[in-house]
Amino acid sequence: MGHYPVMREDVLKYLNIKEGGVYVDATCGHGGHSLCILEKERNIILYGLDKDIDAIKDVTNKLSGFKNFRPIHSGYEKLDSVLKQEGIETVDGILMDLGFSSNQIEDAKRGFSFQLEGPLDMRYDRNSCLTAGEIINRWNRNDLVYLFEKYGEIKKARRFVSALIERRKKKEFRTTTELSDFIVKYFRYRGKIHPATKFFMALRMAVNDEVETIKMGLNKAVDALKSGGRLVVISFHSIEDRIVKHFFRGNEQLTVLTKKPVTAGKEELLKNPESRSAKMRVCEKL
Ligand SMILES: C[S@@+](CC[C@H](N)C(=O)[O-])C[C@H]1O[C@@H](n2cnc3c(N)ncnc32)[C@H](O)[C@@H]1O
Repeated sequence: MGHYPVMREDVLKYLNIKEGGVYVDATCGHGGHSLCILEKERNIILYGLDKDIDAIKDVTNKLSGFKNFRPIHSGYEKLDSVLKQEGIETVDGILMDLGFSSNQIEDAKRGFSFQLEGPLDMRYDRNSCLTAGEIINRWNRNDLVYLFEKYGEIKKARRFVSALIERRKKKEFRTTTELSDFIVKYFRYRGKIHPATKFFMALRMAVNDEVETIKMGLNKAVDALKSGGRLVVISFHSIEDRIVKHFFRGNEQLTVLTKKPVTAGKEELLKNPESRSAKMRVCEKL
């Protein structure tokens, strides 16, 4: 997340940063991990990619003191063309810290949070067309059921989707809180975990086509690594972690360095409770 770079010591250890190397922070956000990497070793080149133009503007400003930091507004799924444009053939290490940043979720107008009133947006890259509002108000019954069951891991989503379709016939959903209030009422929520959590996660994954994008990004990352180069991936969601696990295991070019995912230690959990769901997996290219 933006304010606290998750598992920073492990990231630095596993990236195995060497003097003179070229590294990529493929999801640099507001620069938490990038700053740690740049401070660890001055004599490297670090490319910082992010799909979110606000993050790139902010990190460019924040890390302007590091002439060896190269911020680039791009998705990691286009890593091959980014590196080609920069005249770089291979790199020594790549970090992917998946999902959204705390800056994004705290900014109501981005529409990621069900607790803050904002438009139903959820795009990392605001040049892309599909928004959460488009999905909620336009997608057909079967596509919505599939989305919520598969990516929200919600059981028996069909009845909920029927109610949602009835509601949107009367009045379209415009804001995050309209949608989360509707979900709360439908599930008669009294418990600990807010029922909108999983719906919002599924919507975010669909808006940003995250499953396909992560798969593409992992492939491009492995292609870009030199022999002995490391790929460090942090995920916050079981679907993402499963993709990373299977990708690492099924790739003959890779040695997996983490038999089990690395998780945050006690001290970090106290300082940053959001790190509790973070899982880090690391591989090295043969
Ligand atoms: C968890 S945050 C990263 C935080 C960062 N490591 C730090 O320490 O500040 C994830 C970031 O990935 C970005 N992102 C999401 N999908 C992306 C993609 N396909 N390519 C590049 N960046 C992406 C988001 O915009 C967000 O800023």
